Amino acid sequence: MRELVAETHLRVSDFVAPLFVREGINEPQPIVSLPGVVQHTLDSLVAEVVQLRDLGVRAVILFGVPEHKDEVGSGAYDPKGIVQVALRRLRETIGDDVVLMADLCVDEYTSHGHCGIVGAHGDVDNDATLEIYCQAAIAQANAGAHVVAPSGMMDGQVGAIRNALDDAGHSEVAIMAYSAKYASALYGPFRDAVDVQIAGGGHRKGYQQDWRNARESMREVFEDIEQGADIVMVKPALAYLDVIGQVRASVDHPVAAYHVSGEYAMIKAAAERGWIDHDAVALEHLTAIKRAGADIILTYFTRWFAEQAAQQGRHG
Ligand code: PBG
Repeated sequence: MRELVAETHLRVSDFVAPLFVREGINEPQPIVSLPGVVQHTLDSLVAEVVQLRDLGVRAVILFGVPEHKDEVGSGAYDPKGIVQVALRRLRETIGDDVVLMADLCVDEYTSHGHCGIVGAHGDVDNDATLEIYCQAAIAQANAGAHVVAPSGMMDGQVGAIRNALDDAGHSEVAIMAYSAKYASALYGPFRDAVDVQIAGGGHRKGYQQDWRNARESMREVFEDIEQGADIVMVKPALAYLDVIGQVRASVDHPVAAYHVSGEYAMIKAAAERGWIDHDAVALEHLTAIKRAGADIILTYFTRWFAEQAAQQGRHG
């Protein structure tokens, strides 16, 4: 009876797997604060995506860890940058079987760790950054990305990227906008994963949202849709279920939620100590995100969920 009347069901096809690919390594490197997640080599990345595809996963989102960082984050738009190289390899191997999303930001590639160009007064220069984002979008699209996902929270980023893609002949490439992205303390393990230390106070409060604000999220979402976003995202997920619910009720676009590194790591750490039941808590949390209104969930649990589903023979 419970099954018959259950309102929310998770499917493998709801999930997007975040994957890290690192330049200049020969073996995958474990990420201590993200148990079960690694920095991939190009070869291990391709193998992982093939396995995810065979498990029924429909999409992955790529993050690059470059060998060299610089002031402007040139690795983000260099055609030889690690994510661009990875996208080409993946497209050759898996074609259109899996939706290839590319996180579009410069923080993994800048020496100061900010999501944009740092201006004369130490602040991020919004408009100078947009030019870099446009170049990155075109490089990612040229390399085979189906979706670019701007995560830097610069004002006007979606419109600028949409125009740049269209002008470059990539009107088919979609934009998943990190629209309501909070200046959260839950990104810690991710910053280990991409080897980022943020200069000048170590935070992104200049461009990410204050977690005391919800109405502001709606403004961000509406602006992104007006500028051409195809999918809008709320990030993190669990502490922002109210925001996810509000976005779902207000727009017809697909809504994504990013269950971030800290949310994943907390479950792993508590389960390791035997304080909580790993599988039960993971399922409860992921279901809550969908129940709140997310159509698409980005989570480091994607592979785990797909494996569980395969075992139980209830593919997406
Ligand atoms: C920025 C970006 C971040 C995450 C995704 N894209 C980090 C940040 O804003 O500091 C965090 C994801 C996670 O914590 O899992 N490129």
